[in-house]
Amino acid sequence: MIIAQISDMHIRPHGQLAYRRVDTARFLARCVEQLARMAPRPDVVLATGDLVDAGHPDEYRHLRELLAPLPMPVYLIPGNHDDRGALIREFGDHDYLPRAGRFLHYVLEQYPVRLVGLDTLVPGQGGGLMCEERLAWLGARLEEAPGRPTVIFMHHAPFLTGIAHMDRLGLEGALAMGKVVERHPQVERVLCGHLHRPIQLRWHGTAVATAPSTAHQVVLDLREEAPLAFAMEPPAFLVHVWREGTGLISHTSYVGEFAGPYPFREGGKLIE
Ligand SMILES: [Fe+2]
Ligand SMILES: [Fe+2]
Repeated sequence: MIIAQISDMHIRPHGQLAYRRVDTARFLARCVEQLARMAPRPDVVLATGDLVDAGHPDEYRHLRELLAPLPMPVYLIPGNHDDRGALIREFGDHDYLPRAGRFLHYVLEQYPVRLVGLDTLVPGQGGGLMCEERLAWLGARLEEAPGRPTVIFMHHAPFLTGIAHMDRLGLEGALAMGKVVERHPQVERVLCGHLHRPIQLRWHGTAVATAPSTAHQVVLDLREEAPLAFAMEPPAFLVHVWREGTGLISHTSYVGEFAGPYPFREGGKLIE
């Protein structure tokens, strides 16, 4: 099974840039083109939040147009820039999205890897939250299928990065979530967005990976006083390959036009 993960697309209404600079729609269109061309084709695409920039209905309409060329199912999870109501209204045909309850949590059972989508959004704030209700939901879902390899995907990452500004917009309740997850060794990976950078760490008996943005990236500056800033480092998405007996192998795929591919060998001999 191949799971592609895109994140932090920050789509604006037609013709508008994000932060007056970033043509997030053009970046997503290029990413979608690359995903659609992949062979073998990913089975699913997980979109880990900040799908749009301001939670506006026009932005979700635009997002829908941009995702339309993808031949595989796309599963959406909200981030701090999203609005649950506007998201549901535009993506009403996405049957996996719950119609009742306060959160857009769901479980996808139909794949070799069980996919658990977690909603960490708190309207009006940048940081996320794992409250008692969310923790109980997650615990119950993990309890249901102890023998099935599981991936949790969510927007806010449950750890501090050392990027001071992002850490102030972190995930409240992360430690409590870790205590739930560590009781369930079937959790192969926790996949997050929000940080606009690829980051990995060992965490409560599993591994966490965050995806870069499909558009702008957060500057890697570990000084306490570092200003919050973005840079146009290469956009990318993650490709998580599930192999029985090995587990989940996470690749990074950069989006853009790059020179190559060039062969290493010519006439059966390594080129010197
Ligand atoms: Fe973001
Ligand atoms: Fe975010």
